[in-house]
Amino acid sequence: MDTVTETEIILNLNLEEEILALKKKLNAVILAHYYQESEIQDLADFIGDSLELSKKAAATDADVIVFAGVHFMAETAKILNPTKKVLLPDLNAGCSLAEGCPAPLFKKFIDLHPDHIVISYINCSANVKALSDIICTSSNAVKIVEQLPPEQKIIFAPDRNLGKYIIKKTGRDMVLWEGSCIVHETFSDKKIIQLKLEYPEALLIAHPECEETLLNRADFIGSTSALLKFIEENPANEFIVATEEGIIYQMQKKCPEKKFIPAPPEENCACNQCPYMKLNTMEKLYLCMRDQKPEIILDEEIRLRALKPIQKMLEMSK
Ligand code: 13P
Ligand code: SF4
Repeated sequence: MDTVTETEIILNLNLEEEILALKKKLNAVILAHYYQESEIQDLADFIGDSLELSKKAAATDADVIVFAGVHFMAETAKILNPTKKVLLPDLNAGCSLAEGCPAPLFKKFIDLHPDHIVISYINCSANVKALSDIICTSSNAVKIVEQLPPEQKIIFAPDRNLGKYIIKKTGRDMVLWEGSCIVHETFSDKKIIQLKLEYPEALLIAHPECEETLLNRADFIGSTSALLKFIEENPANEFIVATEEGIIYQMQKKCPEKKFIPAPPEENCACNQCPYMKLNTMEKLYLCMRDQKPEIILDEEIRLRALKPIQKMLEMSK
């Protein structure tokens, strides 16, 4: 008799129907970032940027949070919801910013700068959050820094590009950790200039994780949600989009009559797709709900220490 493998069984399933049935059975909520593949975005209960997803995670009354995003996002949901089960379809869905800032090295960096307040971008591990005073996301970073007294010395980690952008916007001097996002550093300045010649009416819109030269050319800079809002409200019909290309799916859905051109990477590669975000697939989403794993588990002492700077962020971004 033929043995039917698990892959064959999964291939024959209507994954969308199965996931929706599991969602009901588990009383689960599916939160997805804009960088997820389009099928996942379509069946999520909520799609958003990092700040909106944290707020949703903090407010949900579901028993299970299924996070279609990367590890630091699911970890943030767990920090906010210790009694809920938080599932991530692939535990290897990391982030170059989080990986480039190991907590023991970051602790040494902080010790070298006494009297500094530590603001960390949400794209970092729970251990790094536990060493921080305030967390921020790309949509509230400027607002948070502006609320600090002018004489307050600041460490900002781990994204040097977002850090430089905040310095430029606020005029504040900050000590920066030298981290970066592999996706947002991939865009080719030369190819963008060529595109601007080809599409003279197109506006260049960029995420603040991009490099300074690109940001200096941009017509608008903002978080993924801010970019989405901008293309809806701006009368222009063509946009060159310098962020992870998954967002273009939502842009096209909101404004089907407009043209969205992904900013090209330096090499002929798919480097404008986040390799971590794209580890999540419909199959893995189904399996993690069916098996209720992989689950995010946190040390309670770290969780409590990481919770404080997240709560501070939520208060300061009201
Ligand atoms: P936002 O969700 O804040 O726009 O950040 C984008 C990002 O790179 C998430 O990893
Ligand atoms: Fe991290 Fe960049 Fe991927 Fe966002 S796009 S998860 S910052 S590697």
